Amino acid sequence: MHIDEALTKRRSARAFRPDPVSRELMEEILQMASKSPSGTNIQPWKIHVVAGEVRARLEREVLAHRETDPADSGAEFPRTGKRKEPYTSRMRTLGKAMYGLIGIPKGDKEAGWRQWGRNYRFFDAPVGLILTIDKDLDAMSFVDVGMFAMAIMLAAKARGLDTCAQGAWNNYWTVTRRVLNVPDEEYIIFGISLGYADDSHPVNTLVAEREPLESFATFHGF
Ligand SMILES: Cc1cc2nc3c(=O)[nH]c(=O)nc-3n(C[C@H](O)[C@H](O)[C@H](O)COP(=O)(O)O)c2cc1C
Repeated sequence: MHIDEALTKRRSARAFRPDPVSRELMEEILQMASKSPSGTNIQPWKIHVVAGEVRARLEREVLAHRETDPADSGAEFPRTGKRKEPYTSRMRTLGKAMYGLIGIPKGDKEAGWRQWGRNYRFFDAPVGLILTIDKDLDAMSFVDVGMFAMAIMLAAKARGLDTCAQGAWNNYWTVTRRVLNVPDEEYIIFGISLGYADDSHPVNTLVAEREPLESFATFHGF
C-alpha cells in the first residue's frame, strides 16, 4: 500500500470484528513502528500489547471501577482539560456526527456514558495497546510517542487492520497500572484499539472532516 493510500484510508474504527490478530503480526507492526524518529534517538516509547484473558480482565476491572467510582477520571500527567475555539467547535462537530450515527440523542447522558464506556472494551477489538512513558521525560518525548503511535496505525492499515487511538485510557489509570504492572515511574498516556473493523457498523461510516490547508499552514519564502 502506498503511504498516501494508508494515510487516506486510516480512519478511527469504533466497532471491530472478533477475528484475532496473531502475536507474529503484532511483532511485525511494532518492528516497523520502531523505525520512527525520536529526539536524539532516545526511543522513549513503551507499549503493552494486550489480548486474550489479560485484555478481558483489564476491560472487566476498568469498567467495574468506572461504575463504582465514576468520578475517578482524569490523567495522572498534567492536562488542563480546557479547550478554546476553534477546538471546542471541532470537538463538538465530531461528537455530534458520531453520536448521530449511533442514534444517541443530544443530552442523553446515560447513553453517552455507556457509549464512552466502549472505549474500555477497546470497541471489541481483539488487541488493545497501552502506551506509557517515563515520568521524567518532557513534552518532546510525548511527541516521539505520538510519532510511534502513528507509525503503528499506518503499518496496521497497510496490513488490512484498523485502529482507534484512545486518550480515554489515561482515565482510570490506577486500574490499568495494577492489571498490567506498569511501574510507578511511568505515565499511562493513551491506548489504541487494533483489529479488523466491522464495516457493517454505522459508527465506522464516520468521516471526520479536516480543515483546509490555509487554516493551519503558513508558508514563508516561496
Ligand atoms: C491522541 C488521540 C486520542 C484519541 N482519543 C480517543 C478516544 O478516547 N476515543 C475515541 O473514540 N477516539 C479517540 N481519538 C480518535 C479521534 O477522535 C480521531 O482521530 C479524530 O476524530 C479524527 O478522525 P479519524 O481518526 O477517523 O481520521 C483519539 C485520537 C488521538 C490522536
